[in-house]
Amino acid sequence: MKRVFSGVQPTGNIHIGNYLGALKQFVELQEENECVYCIVDLHSITLPQDPKILKKNILDVAALYIAVGLDPKRSAIFVQSMVSGHAELAWILMCNSYTGELSRMTQFKQKSRDNESAPTGLFTYPILMAADILLYDSDVVPVGSDQKQHIEITRDLAIRVNNKYGKTFVVPEGRFLKEGARIMSLDDPTSKMSKSAENIHSRISLLDNASKIKKSIMKSTTDSEGSVRFDMDEKPGISNLINIYSSFSGLETADIEKKYTGCGYGEFKKDLVDVTVEAVLPIQQRYSDIRESEELIRILKEGAERAAAISEKTMDRVKKKFGLGV
Ligand code: AMP
Ligand code: TRP
Repeated sequence: MKRVFSGVQPTGNIHIGNYLGALKQFVELQEENECVYCIVDLHSITLPQDPKILKKNILDVAALYIAVGLDPKRSAIFVQSMVSGHAELAWILMCNSYTGELSRMTQFKQKSRDNESAPTGLFTYPILMAADILLYDSDVVPVGSDQKQHIEITRDLAIRVNNKYGKTFVVPEGRFLKEGARIMSLDDPTSKMSKSAENIHSRISLLDNASKIKKSIMKSTTDSEGSVRFDMDEKPGISNLINIYSSFSGLETADIEKKYTGCGYGEFKKDLVDVTVEAVLPIQQRYSDIRESEELIRILKEGAERAAAISEKTMDRVKKKFGLGV
């Protein structure tokens, strides 16, 4: 059995990009693997957070994890800051990483662009992510394609430490889906759908109601050609919508193109609204059942205990290899 690890930041507005790129894979992978799924609250404080909202967002993501189909009996579901090994291993890895390689991370460049001086945590963010993954001897890491660079640096670090100290870490593989790997923004299909974009119609949140979903899809940017055809370069808007349709329905791109030959964008968009609402509605029903229940906290405490048991073994091994402690 392989070990799978992934994480989502509790920063609100979990959207269909997070679902189709990451969460959907989390659910599929639980069938045949040992899975560890984390809510990465330490990552979210790399940018300022309101403590009350952060606490609420942590529970929201936990409830969404369960609502999309993660089974706490099969998968360990927990909050990163409740297992001390993440921050501890991050420090050790930081001492084996270089400012040059971290300066090249595109996420850091984007997020620090407007500030003269960025928080150190934003700079070392990929090292904490590497620690998350390596702490659990993870074989597979399901993520959206925006995380490719972070997976690469994790692999580099694991190989570097293994070469220097002898076999210490499992070298993990990223897992990216073909269709959902990069869902683009509905108002600007050249940038990825994001939790933090100002325009709420740029994204569909998993908790949006049917009328909001309809409005966002009907308003979405397309082109003037008017034919439902996949071409990411020339027709990024409609291609993104086809991609969403395909991910939710399971239909291949070619079948969707065939189905809508001769149809206008209006008709296609109306059907996409139905496909999307049908997919998110059951998630929303399960979400409201679990979100306010006592069970949620119990699941997170139990998940943290399971995660801690695995991580403590890794930390013992790492400390021994590095000559730390007595
Ligand atoms: P984050 O919200 O940044 O914590 O992302 C959680 C997961 O969702 C990560 O695996 C991301 O790669 C994935 N993700 C975020 N945005 C998108 C997107 N627009 N399309 C596909 N996957 C995404
Ligand atoms: N950086 C990831 C994101 O923004 C979240 C994350 C943190 C993660 N630690 C991880 C994803 C470990 C996979 C594995 O989406």
